[in-house]
Amino acid sequence: MTSAMTEHKPAGTGLYGGRSSRRLTVRDIAAAKRRGEKWPMLTAYDAVTASVFDEAGIPVMLVGDSMGNAHLGYESTVPVTLDQMTMLAGAVVRGTSRALIVGDLPFGSYQESAVQALRSATHLVKEAGVGAVKLEGGERSADQIRLLVESGIPVMAHVGLTPQSVHAYGGHPVQGRGEEAAQQLLRDAKAVQNAGAFAVVLELVTAELAAEVTRSLHIPTIGIGSGAECDAQVLVWTDMAGMTEWPGGRTPRFVKQYGRLREALGDAARAFAEDVVGGAYPAEEHSFH
Ligand code: KIV
Repeated sequence: MTSAMTEHKPAGTGLYGGRSSRRLTVRDIAAAKRRGEKWPMLTAYDAVTASVFDEAGIPVMLVGDSMGNAHLGYESTVPVTLDQMTMLAGAVVRGTSRALIVGDLPFGSYQESAVQALRSATHLVKEAGVGAVKLEGGERSADQIRLLVESGIPVMAHVGLTPQSVHAYGGHPVQGRGEEAAQQLLRDAKAVQNAGAFAVVLELVTAELAAEVTRSLHIPTIGIGSGAECDAQVLVWTDMAGMTEWPGGRTPRFVKQYGRLREALGDAARAFAEDVVGGAYPAEEHSFH
């Protein structure tokens, strides 16, 4: 029996918490869906933070174009370039040894044609070393997904609210409300699966519709603001760790903060500053003679 004919062995006992330290692949993701296993995904934008998440066992990291807001100081994901993505995705790959690293295709790097998408994705895979790419859009991106997959590049799709279209939405509306919108979202999810995507992000989709999509697909759904029935859940790491400062202190409903990193980092910076100003740092043990 050839290895292609054998059932793919899970990495350790599970995607999260598995013992294997080899780099995870899209085959491990498919095996987790068959086992009915839920898994976590976080964004990462630099090598140090990514190494912490890798040590914590996060199996999939997305170098999201959310780096625009969360890391680079822009107001949206729209200005992020392929060069910026390539640089930060390379850092995340270098900082990790187990997680599957997914690089986002930025706005303007794939919408023109399938060939443009292939050129951008090839650059990201060759220069940054990511194991997969993500792009936004359902039926409208099916040709792009098909060509990338045929060319050997695994694709994570992204439907529901697609932040690169922020100017068209004029906000961040919940997706899939009403019969027509729900049917379109189901068509989008099936279109990306049929085109060969290995997983699909559902962003800000009603919990009921996300559950229906998850039941209808054989590829995993990754929810963000889309209820509890998705196969996986993703959060932007700065939101998850309590690093993001929200306007007016209003945390979006779907975000759960698992830490208070902003406060902890501010406290550390103030303690350092006070030691310097007061002459307590550096002390004798920090000095060379
Ligand atoms: O760019 C990003 O981080 C994303 C996730 C929020 C899914 O697209």
